[in-house]
Amino acid sequence: MPGVSLVGSGSACLSVPLTNDGLSQRVDTSDEWIATRTGIRQRHIAAPTDSLTSLATEAARNALEMAQVGVDEVDLILLATSTPDDLFGSACRVQAALGATRAVAFDLTAACSGFVFALVTAAQYIRTGVFKTVVVIGGDVLSRWTDWSDRTTCVLFGDGAGAVVLRAAERDRLLGFELCSDGSLNHSLNLAYQPESAPLVDGITVQKGSFAPITMNGREVYKFAVNRVPEVIEKALFRANLTTADIDWLVLHQANQRILDAVAARLGVPSERVVSNMARHGNTSAASIPIALDEAVRAGKVQPGDVIATAGFGAGLTWGAAIIEWG
Ligand code: COA
Repeated sequence: MPGVSLVGSGSACLSVPLTNDGLSQRVDTSDEWIATRTGIRQRHIAAPTDSLTSLATEAARNALEMAQVGVDEVDLILLATSTPDDLFGSACRVQAALGATRAVAFDLTAACSGFVFALVTAAQYIRTGVFKTVVVIGGDVLSRWTDWSDRTTCVLFGDGAGAVVLRAAERDRLLGFELCSDGSLNHSLNLAYQPESAPLVDGITVQKGSFAPITMNGREVYKFAVNRVPEVIEKALFRANLTTADIDWLVLHQANQRILDAVAARLGVPSERVVSNMARHGNTSAASIPIALDEAVRAGKVQPGDVIATAGFGAGLTWGAAIIEWG
């Protein structure tokens, strides 16, 4: 059975930051409140000229460049997003923008767990020998769906995209994984369609609704994350035949510094081994793990052979972990 290796990473980050002080012009909040409760100091917001497609394409291009893989070699583009430019999917737009004409492309939606779910999905195509080269992208423009008058949610989120290139290899570097869902907790965090009735013809009424902005019970989500994330990482480590002592880098979904600290403390991972960029980016949903990973790789922190424990968690509710060896 072919194995999977991760051979490149890339990201697309927006240049103009929205600081906590900037946000406090809009809602009754402060840099002090946001920074102490979440660790976030700023986030980036997509301008009207940006799109999910443009961010995802830039991230994928940078990842392919690092991997020294040509667009014509790409078999599959998997785009994890909850904020597509088109509800029918945005991956094909990315395929066209990249010029990856041989690749099949589709979207995968699992909110802030989307990147980990897509990584594991992509790996299955490689392991079965169906595809040799896959680009996995996590991208989100949550600012489109943020209620900018709700200070309990609008301070958390930012926009961006990140990507990795996976290739078939002799030795499998996806060492273990575990994916979970619990739809009974969907009410804790969602971006739900709200149907309204509109009469169409005699006797037939259609739905004519819209999406409500992000709704969240912060305390429930916090409790869910600090309990479930260490558990799912331990299960993935067990499958990899490894222990927490083998983790070189903990690359968690960047939701809240307090969640990262609590998970690392539960697992006994020292803080210098925890990758954190949320002070600069906030929570970029499906983009947060690949952006954090790409920054750590480009900064020379993550080296070939390093064991990375990564975990995503969020709406669905969904959560999942993957243990990978870089390079
Ligand atoms: N600025 C200032 N005050 C704020 C505020 C803000 N942005 N948001 C909420 N508050 C106030 C509340 O109104 C409340 O005031 P009150 O005590 O007078 O009623 C007080 O701060 C405490 O609110 P609470 O919601 O209990 O705060 P908290 O300690 O639970 O922190 C979160 C809120 C959102 C930071 C925290 O629950 C959290 O991070 N949860 C996880 C969310 C997450 O990561 N979601 C994404 C997962 S993918």
